[in-house]
Amino acid sequence: MNAEAFNTKVKRNVAHNFDQSIRLYREFEDKHGFFEALTMKMAEAIGIEEHASVLDIGCGYGVSACALHERLGCRVLGVDLSPEMIAAGRSYCQGEGIELCVGDGENLSSLVEDHSFDYALYNASIFIFPDVSRTIAESHRHLRDGGKIAFSFYPQLLGEDDADLFELAFERLGEPLPRFRVITGYAKAAAALESRCVDIGHHRWVRPLDIEFLQDFFSIPAQSASLFPGRGYEERRELSLRLFGTLGDQTKTGRIVWRMAEGAKSGAALRQ
Ligand SMILES: C[S@@+](CC[C@H](N)C(=O)[O-])C[C@H]1O[C@@H](n2cnc3c(N)ncnc32)[C@H](O)[C@@H]1O
Repeated sequence: MNAEAFNTKVKRNVAHNFDQSIRLYREFEDKHGFFEALTMKMAEAIGIEEHASVLDIGCGYGVSACALHERLGCRVLGVDLSPEMIAAGRSYCQGEGIELCVGDGENLSSLVEDHSFDYALYNASIFIFPDVSRTIAESHRHLRDGGKIAFSFYPQLLGEDDADLFELAFERLGEPLPRFRVITGYAKAAAALESRCVDIGHHRWVRPLDIEFLQDFFSIPAQSASLFPGRGYEERRELSLRLFGTLGDQTKTGRIVWRMAEGAKSGAALRQ
């Protein structure tokens, strides 16, 4: 399969998986307030200013858009591949100054026209993009000089001496470690950012290992798809519950680490 066909297939699957996820995604967010907290951690880490304009790429049902609008008065345009996520977002996000639309973050021009944003954010979405260079090039094009691109990433589960607790959990469950937990790794996403931006910064939000949180997070259909590819949803959910249940002895030392990266658009760098 060539790269373009692979890209198209990934995006079709992603849209389908998130279309199927909306109910459990909302239940998860209502219980844990997690995506909102991650948004605000990123906003704090990169210093998002009040009343800024934000392009939210992979916006889901608009959790980040609403949080940034309500707390910082930001104007937000959100773009997502999943029609069901956007439909849910249009009733969830009531504020003026929030617009959500179905679209592909690798092809932003038709959606965004010639608008220049202060920030382009990927909250827990960039690791799903098959062509990360393309989406960063697109969001960079629609940023004003001095504006920032930032992303938050898929979680690391770390134990003592930074042991990978995903590996330990799969070993204990007796299931093979999935070859790809993400479509695009952190290093590749960071390299794409570095190729376009200056003043690169990396941040981390470290939380204690919380088994129930992980079980709920990976009970969202789209999240469990990466752990147990090829299995039906009910089986994936049951496996996810057992998978993280194996880590009960790790809660004293274990951590969930959310990495973030940021870079700024430099007019000078562009002219070089
Ligand atoms: C884990 S969810 C995060 C949603 C949201 N940012 C939040 O914080 O709740 C990832 C989202 O990225 C979207 N996504 C993945 N690839 C995309 C693409 N190429 N263009 C637009 N959205 C995409 C998915 O449809 C999904 O809604």
